[in-house]
Amino acid sequence: MKKLLIAASILFLPFSPATAAEGENVIIEPPAEGTVSREDGLTAWARIYEVASHPRCSNCHVGADNLPMWSGPTYGKPRPHGMNINAGESRIGAEYVQCSTCHVIRESLNDIPHAAPQVAMTWQLAPVEAEWFGKGSVEICNQLRDPERNGGRDYLELASHLDHDLILHWAWDPGGGREPAPYDLQTHVNDVLAWGVAGYPCEND
Ligand code: HEC
Ligand code: HEC
Repeated sequence: MKKLLIAASILFLPFSPATAAEGENVIIEPPAEGTVSREDGLTAWARIYEVASHPRCSNCHVGADNLPMWSGPTYGKPRPHGMNINAGESRIGAEYVQCSTCHVIRESLNDIPHAAPQVAMTWQLAPVEAEWFGKGSVEICNQLRDPERNGGRDYLELASHLDHDLILHWAWDPGGGREPAPYDLQTHVNDVLAWGVAGYPCEND
């Protein structure tokens, strides 16, 4: 009986949602080396850029002025975060008002329009090296394939980072009437894998 149970659990392991740990919501299955052409890699990149440049991502991926952005249809004209918020060099507002004062850690979606987005991890700006706001496709492409500016990650590490970052899960399901990032997390992860296997092509190569 015990044997049978073990056999059954092994059989069902890959399909059982109960085995998925926190944040493990996507399948990370890169295409085989050599199977993605430069052209297909660039098509995948075009979709990655649509995501990276979308307000749900770029509002946090800002530069050295440390000012989070308010942009996207629910905000009207793009502008720096209201209430004089400045994230400081700490990128979490330690020098002024901490982001977590309003963006508290919370398990369930905060669905009230214009309330501060809240997720199950610490809310903060992305590192300065990952500045995307207002940048074009070629610029972000070169940034994201540069280990010096992408947290030292290859495409597999980027993909698993994307899966484990709960802020990203929020970006595709932001609630409060906000426009979600385009496509979905699985498509985005697949695109990152295909782009990586194609050799990280950028349009300027
Ligand atoms: C609340 C702010 C916030 C939002 C919104 C956000 N990010 Fe980030 N992002 C971060 C932080 C913080 C890090 C650094 C985390 C780390 O390196 O562990 C980061 C790092 C990354 C990285 C790692 C590579 C690098 O250059 O450092 C990628 C890729 C990334 N984000 C993609 C996205 C995408 C795609 C979206 C939208 C779907 C998004 N982020 C939305 C805060 C944010
Ligand atoms: C005093 C409360 C408060 C503090 C402190 C605060 N925020 Fe916010 N934040 C808000 C509110 C409220 C909104 C939503 C406004 C709206 O939708 O009209 C928001 C929205 C945002 C957005 C836009 C999210 C999106 O794409 O819709 C980002 C990015 C952001 N905050 C980053 C930060 C960062 C980074 C910090 C810390 C440096 C911070 N905030 C500190 C209240 C706060």
